[in-house]
Amino acid sequence: MSILYYCAGDTDDAIYNEIKRKLPTHTITKWPDCPDKSRVTMAIVWQPPTDFFDSLSSLKHVLSIAAGVDHLLNHPGLPEHVDVIRLTDAGMSGPMADYVLYGVLHAQRQMCALNTAQRQQQWQHELKPHSASKMHVGILGAGELGLMAAKKLLVNHYTVSCWSRSKKELRNITHFVGKDGLDEMLSTTNVLVCLLPLTKDTSGIINAALLAKLPSQAFVINAGRGDHLDEQALLDALDSGQLSGALLDVFNTEPLPASHAFWTHPQVVVTPHVAAPTQAEGAVTQLVDSVISLEKGVNPRGWVDRTQGY
Ligand code: NAP
Ligand code: GLV
Repeated sequence: MSILYYCAGDTDDAIYNEIKRKLPTHTITKWPDCPDKSRVTMAIVWQPPTDFFDSLSSLKHVLSIAAGVDHLLNHPGLPEHVDVIRLTDAGMSGPMADYVLYGVLHAQRQMCALNTAQRQQQWQHELKPHSASKMHVGILGAGELGLMAAKKLLVNHYTVSCWSRSKKELRNITHFVGKDGLDEMLSTTNVLVCLLPLTKDTSGIINAALLAKLPSQAFVINAGRGDHLDEQALLDALDSGQLSGALLDVFNTEPLPASHAFWTHPQVVVTPHVAAPTQAEGAVTQLVDSVISLEKGVNPRGWVDRTQGY
């Protein structure tokens, strides 16, 4: 048996080298190097190329070098019988909570309007900060990342709600489920944060109809996946004043095309999918643990329900 590794955009091979160091008796090769594809039982990947899965006739498990698994579940070559395992936190939830807090502060301090005023050399003294407790942050997703962001916002005195698929009891966080629950949360949400996985049920969820349910001058933070957002609907909502601004880390097309309106829009802050990059140390620890568990026949953390899509 052997393990095949591929990580798109990885320039220093830090994760690959460390996995090899921690599993010295395993045969681990980096795609496309693979002397015998028929012996590969596990793959460790981020955004594998189209022909990655070709001839991997013994493949049983695919480990994602990311929290999201849309890059795998939407891959046309992923065999149906293969189990998919994702990273759960692995050091990402802290940086993601920081990113969300940064976005909420941007909205609270009216930074979009202040930045525009600065460029116009206007002393807009009336652009005062909103009070934290009156800022209602609604988080789509109450998983590893959503809950850590929620906790960070709570200690900073924001009012926090979350929406997820299953019911939860959360201390000091108002929790919603279902379509009616979502509408109820949106009606009071000043800052909407998307930390959902991209699935058939969540694709395009932030559309014109949803944005219209937010109070006027709301702010949107999307750090889930680009396809959660209807980008034109967001631009229209900014132009109409329904939204005051947006902090966006993920896009329909990545890298964001040079001609895209987001680059120069005064109310949009663009970050290049860096809200919570994979942390090498946490990722290696979890990936190595997963390999060892799977070899013992034990299901590791991060088991993906392929029918639910996350
Ligand atoms: P997670 O632990 O699986 O949490 C997902 C949450 O979304 C859960 O609360 C889940 O509900 C909820 N959910 C899923 N489908 C839903 C639906 N149809 N309706 C309502 N709620 C739904 O995932 P995570 O680790 O927090 O990661 C979330 C996503 O963040 C990843 O999939 C990835 O796309 C993105 N991400 C982005 C970056 C970045 O740098 N921008 C970094 C890491 C991850 P239940 O609790 O009921 O299951
Ligand atoms: C990054 O986007 C991830 O899903 O971990």
